[in-house]
Amino acid sequence: MRMYDIIQKKRDGLELTDAEIEFAVEGYVRGGVPDYQMSALLMAVYFRGMTPREIKTLTLTMMRSGETVDLSAFGDLTVDKHSTGGVGDKTTLIVAPIVACLGGVVAKMSGRGLGHTGGTVDKLEAIPGFRTEMDRGDFLRQVREIGVAVVGQSGHLAPADKKIYALRDVTATVESIPLIASSIMSKKLASGAKNIVLDVKVGSGAFMKTREDAERLARAMVGIGTLSSRRVTAVLTNMDIPLGRAVGNSLEVLEAVDVLAGRGPADLVEVCSELAARMLCLARGWAYEESIEKVRDALASGAALEKFRGWIARQGGDASFIESPEKLGTAPVTWELKAEEGGYISSMDAERIGKAAAVLGAGREKAGDPIDYTAGIVLLGKTGDEVREGGTLATLYTSKKEKIPEAAVFLRDAIRISPQKPAPQPLIFGVVE
Ligand code: URA
Repeated sequence: MRMYDIIQKKRDGLELTDAEIEFAVEGYVRGGVPDYQMSALLMAVYFRGMTPREIKTLTLTMMRSGETVDLSAFGDLTVDKHSTGGVGDKTTLIVAPIVACLGGVVAKMSGRGLGHTGGTVDKLEAIPGFRTEMDRGDFLRQVREIGVAVVGQSGHLAPADKKIYALRDVTATVESIPLIASSIMSKKLASGAKNIVLDVKVGSGAFMKTREDAERLARAMVGIGTLSSRRVTAVLTNMDIPLGRAVGNSLEVLEAVDVLAGRGPADLVEVCSELAARMLCLARGWAYEESIEKVRDALASGAALEKFRGWIARQGGDASFIESPEKLGTAPVTWELKAEEGGYISSMDAERIGKAAAVLGAGREKAGDPIDYTAGIVLLGKTGDEVREGGTLATLYTSKKEKIPEAAVFLRDAIRISPQKPAPQPLIFGVVE
């Protein structure tokens, strides 16, 4: 078999065999296939796409390239959640304890943020003492004891995806539905959960800018899950506007506590309730109505907040910040962005808001850069809200005063004001099962 022939076949729009896909991926991981040939194949896939069978084979080949986690001891109760990258997305911090307090098992590996999107691991590390690295035995023991553990993604999970993703990142081949679907699902399948809920983001702050593309991605991922004996539900959610009001690590942790304490912003409560309910439908076999009712009860009764407290403490975190938020630290510099005119906020650009937060120190430019956990933005107005001229649109938090002008330019560009109230936008566009 020759890589040249595989590239030519895909270039001409033909379907690759399982053996050809395995040859390319395994050869690339071992070093026998050079970057330039893998890049050419990825570009051919970008233009020609892949059939469901090809996507499944690519996913399984990448999954098998490294370690897999065996969660079979927990039966059908294990449930994972993946969001396709967003701004202000602190949903894992909220849904994990909700689902665990209702009998689901959440043994989860999460990533770090890059570019304008935040990562769950960075948010958790904003909590003093919280450990995101654990050995496998400890991780499983904690899951058995309290039903929830979230750790950083091991580098040994789907290493083929890691190597291919790095190549896609520099060859303009990230935005391909078969490549995104197989990349995400190879890691989800390797993580071992029987059930998976995918939060596929749609809009300016997401990979998928249109509903049609998001639906195609959702169908591709649900299809891979079904062909691999997992139960998968995808929820299409709005990412034109950041989720909640807080963007930045400590600020988002505090907002997650607000939701668990029953006082969170309505959009974040709605999306988290939907995701948690869908997770419980799969893991517990409950009907949707029953699941959503139980989720609301868990928030109202404080049961989810108590599970969160126990989880944070079990992973070494100082949970006293729940009552004393100042323990997460506060940024030394704050600055308010004022409206230059009155009217209604007609649109927000989540990607620009994410970039503004990153400039303030909340995100990274490249992997490995340090993060200022206290940096970020709190949005006082969201799309549809009325604002007065001179009224505060957002508060910026940072340790680097000199970064405020650059962040303010991104933010001002991101928030549009017009005389007419815009039509309300749905938060949840649909569900693919
Ligand atoms: N997230 C991933 O893990 N992979 C992609 O290809 C895109 C987003």
